[in-house]
Amino acid sequence: MVKVNLGGCSSFTNDAEYKEYVEKALTAFDTLESETGAGNDFLGWKHLPTTTPESLITDCEAIRDSWKEKGVDLVVVIGIGGSYLGAKCAVEALSHSFSKQLSGKKDAPEIVFAGHNLSEEYICELTDLMQQRNVAAVVISKSGTTTEPAIAFRFVKQYIEKTYGVKEAAERIVAVTDAHKGALKSLSTQEGYRTFVIADNVGGRFSVLTPVGILPIVLAGFDMRAMLKGAAEMERKCSERNGDNPAVEYAAMRNLLYSKGKKIEILVSYNPKLQYLGEWWKQLYGESEGKDGKGIFPASVSFTTDLHSMGQYIQQGERILMETVVTVEKSNRSMTISDDPQNLDGLNFLTGKHVEECNAMAELGTKLAHIDGGVPQLSVSVEKIDEFNLGGLFYFFEKACGISAYILGVNPFNQPGVEAYKKNMFALLGKPGYEEQAKALNERLGK
Ligand code: PA5
Repeated sequence: MVKVNLGGCSSFTNDAEYKEYVEKALTAFDTLESETGAGNDFLGWKHLPTTTPESLITDCEAIRDSWKEKGVDLVVVIGIGGSYLGAKCAVEALSHSFSKQLSGKKDAPEIVFAGHNLSEEYICELTDLMQQRNVAAVVISKSGTTTEPAIAFRFVKQYIEKTYGVKEAAERIVAVTDAHKGALKSLSTQEGYRTFVIADNVGGRFSVLTPVGILPIVLAGFDMRAMLKGAAEMERKCSERNGDNPAVEYAAMRNLLYSKGKKIEILVSYNPKLQYLGEWWKQLYGESEGKDGKGIFPASVSFTTDLHSMGQYIQQGERILMETVVTVEKSNRSMTISDDPQNLDGLNFLTGKHVEECNAMAELGTKLAHIDGGVPQLSVSVEKIDEFNLGGLFYFFEKACGISAYILGVNPFNQPGVEAYKKNMFALLGKPGYEEQAKALNERLGK
């Protein structure tokens, strides 16, 4: 169960102003629940945890099993933004930190990601890897027209067809896309790929609990049922209309702090496995809230690592920061620090302590230091890192994001700003239809 603790904000706010923001959050909550706000045709994510059919998971498992029979040991998952970050976050959070280096037979194929950049070197190196492995691919694009995954997919498709034959390629490629439109849909129909549908009313960054996240997570060998269970628990908790609703608490406080000049929110974790939770969260909040000249800028750090790089700024730099710490109460593994008779490092006072106790004291010490330095601390805690709690975190942050953006007065479910770079890129690459824009851009570039 995800819990929110706002104790670390008390010296920056008072009860009256917090109450005022809880009222604003409840009004925003009503807008979201009654589906009357901006972007209300994109609310399909709200009930995914409690409505996802069991058959979706068994269909994904059937693909996992058929690829296992073929000996597939590498699955390339192609996608960008919301079609990539949720699955990447789950795979990173739930995998052994050294799964790639550990020897021994693996139960699940290795999952690698592509189509989330335009680096030629990355594609070449992916090809090097594919050449040594038994490969299948999942290509994910809601629109079916996004350039980055489309380019990566050309290479992966060609590689698979060349290596295994066109007929077998259709067994080794699965697409996740729109039910009817987009180039990926047409291509999948033509090639006979198995496909999964992303519902019209679920936007990319809210799609981790659709086949966009479910298929790669199942293929990676994780328990999707437990993840949906955790998300369902938060769906219930976050649909209560009161000030104890964690999504209401979080949305209210971060907007209150924003109104007081805290323009940057840093998502903090103390376990490197949660680094990509930060990446997923940044997209969710950045793309949902950053518009109309408004929005908290989302950043993320991994502590204690980044205390040795970003810690100085956070402690003493410009006072525009708030932190949201994702606290994990229990470590999944246990290791105590042993005694060293020479004690040259002077650390024998730690003998018998768990490493996680040092981590917890670092977290507590940092919290107090950052509060003293003028950085309010919001806390979002879970019991441990597992599928259940990760599902809860996904749902909690999505619901809070919808509420928060409505408090701010923006449409959480569109992203008009991301078109600007695409138009310029297409013009500069000579796409037909962009001739006028290309001329203007080239003049600006002095070409
Ligand atoms: O949240 C969003 O809508 C975007 O980040 C998209 O997920 C991203 O641009 C990828 O789009 P698509 O799935 O259409 O390829």
